[in-house]
This record gives sequence, C-alpha cells and structure tokens, in this order.
Amino acid sequence: MRHLISMKDIGKEEILEILDEARKMEELLNTKRPLRLLEGKILATVFYEPSTRTRLSFETAMKRLGGEVITMTDLKSSSVAKGESLIDTIRVISGYADIIVLRHPSEGAARLASEYSQVPIINAGDGSNQHPTQTLLDLYTIMREIGRIDGIKIAFVGDLKYGRTVHSLVYALSLFDDVEMYFVSPKELKMPEDIIEDLKAKNIKFYEKESLNDLDEDVDVLYVTRIQKERFPDPNEYEKVKGSYKIKKEYVEGKKFIIMHPLPRVDEIDYEVDKLPQAKYFKQSFYGIPVRMAILKKLIEDNER
Ligand code: CP
Repeated sequence: MRHLISMKDIGKEEILEILDEARKMEELLNTKRPLRLLEGKILATVFYEPSTRTRLSFETAMKRLGGEVITMTDLKSSSVAKGESLIDTIRVISGYADIIVLRHPSEGAARLASEYSQVPIINAGDGSNQHPTQTLLDLYTIMREIGRIDGIKIAFVGDLKYGRTVHSLVYALSLFDDVEMYFVSPKELKMPEDIIEDLKAKNIKFYEKESLNDLDEDVDVLYVTRIQKERFPDPNEYEKVKGSYKIKKEYVEGKKFIIMHPLPRVDEIDYEVDKLPQAKYFKQSFYGIPVRMAILKKLIEDNER
C-alpha cells in the first residue's frame, strides 16, 4: 500500500514524475472537457484542523477527475465529539472511500493513520511536521515560473520553527543539485536543529539571517510564511515576534525574485504587492489543483496494481 506521509517517502525521480503528470493535468484542465480518469472512486477529506486551499483543492481535483468526495471537517458534528479515536475513525472511513486526505494537529498522526487504513492516506499536514502535497505544488510552481529547480537560490522568510510547509520544502530541495537557501527569521523562530544538521550532512549551502536586507541580490524565490500563532505554547511568545516581517511594494519593486506563500497570509505581505509581477502566490494556490489531480491518480492507480 502506497501512502504519501512525508517527502522523505519519495525520491527526486518520483517527484519529477509527479510534476510531469501535473503538467499533463494542467493541460487537460485547460481543455475544459470533463474527465473520467477516476470515475467511480471516492475521496474522503478528514480535517481535524481548519483549511481552505488544501481541502477544497483536493475536492476540486477529485471532481475534475470524475470522482466523488465525502468529507469530515466539522468535528462537532462527527463522532470525534463523542470521543472516537483517530484510529477508529480511519478504520471506518477507509471502508467507505478509495483514498483519504487527512489533516491533524499532532505530528505523526498521518503515519499512525496509515497503519490502520485499508486505503492510501495522504498527509495534508500533521502539526508542525510535514505537508508533502504543499511541497509538490511549491516545486511545481518553481518549475513553471522559473523553469528549473536545480541551481535555484531560495529565501525562506518568517516562521521557520513551526512552518510545516518550509520543513517539507527544504527537505525536498535538498534532493536537487546546487540549491542555495537563506533562512530569514527572528531568532526565536529559527529552522529546527535536525533540519540544519541534515543540510550540513548533505553539504547544502545555507545561510541564517534575521533581516531581509541581508539577502543576496540573486535570490530567485522569496518564500514568505505566516507566523503560526496557533502553534505557540505561550501566547506572550507570539506577541514578541508577530509582525516581524512585512513585505512591501517598495522592497519588491525592481527585484528579480518571484514571491511565493503557501497562504493564508495575515499581514506579512502587503496587499499592494499582489499587483506586482513578482507576486505568484495566487497562481501557486491554483497549481494545487493539477498537482493534487496527479497525486490522487498516481496513488489510486499504484494501489490497484
Ligand atoms: N497552504 C495551506 O495548507 O492552506 P490551507 O491551510 O488553507 O489548507
């Protein structure tokens, strides 16, 4: 049984295969013709945490492929409110659906679910740990907007401690050639030590900074993140770092980089920046559809082999 729990479960070759398949899906979407590639299949979206993009883009992807969707998002109206465990919930839903997309606040929840599921589990975010399908759509955005992933210089900005999208993406980029990374964060929100150690072991060039003014002019991608208020054990600690970075029009104008953001944003990118050619974050969220179409198709087909 193939699941997608962590970027560590897939190698560079398989990543490139998914990106290739996503490109075909994007072309099929552009034809506006209805597709029947997953006709008769059912996706269950099981979300224990809020989501707009991940859940709705997975549901859109399944419907665009001709499949059906069932969903459990409002925990108050499900039997989670009566105390049902994640394991029992997954055992039951895996008897109803052909594939499950799971978001949960606990690190390791998706891995645990995969041990009890009869169908593939896709991790849609487990606490601060991993968000692999976001990473695949981030890589797809880089490929589509810059034309390559090898050799890029990317700056991650904001909450590098709790941001699961950066943890997944940094790992995935470490599989590509000659990628250079900048980590720009307040000292309280630095990249976790295990990720830093992994980069050192792989001889990846990276630089830790606190100011956006310390970035190299040659940066290709500015990957901005929200400070993850909900993950701070102490609200006073959040108050100290909130609003640390605000990307403004004056900072962006004339720069060669593209700006990405997994969204939602709070106040870290000024709305005026949206109009600039560097702003790619809404295109990035659209790319979630073809990428998730490719992932659903691959996992369901692999599982039937
Ligand atoms: N990027 C992302 O995971 O967005 P949602 O929380 O809205 O799903």
